[in-house]
Amino acid sequence: MTTRQDAWPPARAHSTAAKLVVPCLVGALVALTLGIYGKAHHPTGVAINIAGFSSPGSVKSWLATGATVFAIIQVGSALVMYGKIPRVSAPDWIGGLHRWSGRIAFLLAVPVAIHCLYALGFQQYSTRVLVHSLLGCAFFGAFTVKMLILPKRGLPGWVLPVVGAVVFTVLVIVWFTSAYWFFSTFGIKR
Ligand code: HEM
Repeated sequence: MTTRQDAWPPARAHSTAAKLVVPCLVGALVALTLGIYGKAHHPTGVAINIAGFSSPGSVKSWLATGATVFAIIQVGSALVMYGKIPRVSAPDWIGGLHRWSGRIAFLLAVPVAIHCLYALGFQQYSTRVLVHSLLGCAFFGAFTVKMLILPKRGLPGWVLPVVGAVVFTVLVIVWFTSAYWFFSTFGIKR
């Protein structure tokens, strides 16, 4: 006879999956919508420069670099909060640093991505650009998943770190395929 304890998948795995399904679907929808918009609309090519910078590409590359630096601070503060750094105990302000570094990273990435989507669109003229376009969209999908699971109670402890790591990794690859490429091609300048 199969009891509730013997059932497969176990009840806990089942309830975890049930809690993740809607956030994942919404995240996938966000990523897909951005990708379809980027592909379907005609890139406007509009270029907005900021005084003191040599080109719009340089403004975007610095903003993207800022977003990545704040994302690194977010991951570092998470490691401290989870007690993963030997001999470092979490100070009171670490939660605030974690939240604000994440908010700032996101706020820096948004105008860059809006310009990418609106002015450049989804492009695939090289592997780098294809990976950048795909992961640029995936970043906002993964970020949506993270925001939707944050308030959920009763999820296993590994879920948030795994989703956070995915968001971070995707952003770093987006940076490598854009700002890093930009600086290594045109030089590090304002
Ligand atoms: C987190 C999101 C994103 C960041 C931080 C980001 C950052 C950047 C940066 C710094 C550049 C180089 C400057 C330039 O050439 O204008 C760039 C270029 C580009 N981006 Fe994005 N981007 C993001 C999302 C997207 C998305 C969603 C798409 C399209 C679906 C996209 C498509 C492009 C394209 C086609 C280029 C030109 C690539 C080239 O020829 O080098 N980006 N992006």
